Amino acid sequence: MSYARDTIARISGYVPGEQPGERPFVKLNTNENPYAPAPRLASVLREFPWERLRLYSEPSAKMLRQAAAEVYGLLMEQIICGNGSDDLLTIALRTFVDQGGSLAYTEPSYSLYPVLADLQGAKHCPVELDANFELPENAAALAQGASLFLLARPNAPSGNSFPLASVKKLCREFAGVVWIDEAYADFAEDNCLALLEEFPNVVVSRTFSKSFSLAGLRLGLAFSSLEIIRELEKVKDSYNVDMLSQHLGKAALEEIDHMLANVEKIKATRQACSEQLSALGCQVLPSQANFLFLRPPKPAAEVFAALRERGYLVRYFALPRVSDYIRISIGSDEQMRGLLASMREICA
Ligand SMILES: Cc1ncc(COP(=O)(O)O)c(C=O)c1O
Repeated sequence: MSYARDTIARISGYVPGEQPGERPFVKLNTNENPYAPAPRLASVLREFPWERLRLYSEPSAKMLRQAAAEVYGLLMEQIICGNGSDDLLTIALRTFVDQGGSLAYTEPSYSLYPVLADLQGAKHCPVELDANFELPENAAALAQGASLFLLARPNAPSGNSFPLASVKKLCREFAGVVWIDEAYADFAEDNCLALLEEFPNVVVSRTFSKSFSLAGLRLGLAFSSLEIIRELEKVKDSYNVDMLSQHLGKAALEEIDHMLANVEKIKATRQACSEQLSALGCQVLPSQANFLFLRPPKPAAEVFAALRERGYLVRYFALPRVSDYIRISIGSDEQMRGLLASMREICA
């Protein structure tokens, strides 16, 4: 017998990527950045007036939103901050999806999305991607009845970025809110920020966890119209972004060139690794993110276990459509050299 609500008692909840314990794994399983954040963050942290922590943080993270407004060419009132973009996704569900309502998301995609539907007591409306993991022509029709469509672009775990034209078609035809989760957009050729001007039903979210090397900070942003941001603000916890995150996030935006340089390094490593894994007989999907999604020449679950045995943590999803694949986050060149050496042994 459980004291929890039925919907909670019957689900197992989201399972995050494994966190290594004592054993020193090379961690390539949760798409973290192998490079340090901008060095100025160290002095911001050192010089932070610690006695200020007795006070609550500024509820709307004004300073941080101001800095983000400049960087992204938006009004501050078009921006909301979250305790990671996962927090913003939870806020999205609570804002746009009634209990008993319906959430649309592509399949495969970020495995948190269906869990969020469960937590909200909402129905699932999965929209199958085609054989190439592309968005189907009739995505909006398939999502009919849902009030929110969560769309990761670039997609996870497949790593591809749906053509802008197909995203626009979805935004035009879908009756509810299209939430474009751009957690990996800094690694991609383009992004959907311009869609905010074109469509009143679009939200774009970003995270500091990947390109900015700040997964431990827990900071995300969402951009939309003034009206939609006002609704989201009603739902968020009053102090959902702590004081340190607000200061460090602002500094990270001011030092954006540091992030952009790291992104370039990661993209070069991604290209080199993709070629070398292909040469080992892996079918590597074209990636616009900081990870590769590939079908190894041997059963994926075995390759995952053999890599783990050799000290490399990657991600394996025992789920329909993706169970023949592994996902490998792009690490430093040195980490990837080691991983490739292990792959060479395993795939031989
Ligand atoms: C598509 C996608 N969205 C959001 C997130 C979560 O980001 P955050 O760390 O900002 O909560 C992830 C993390 O892996 C992700 O893959």
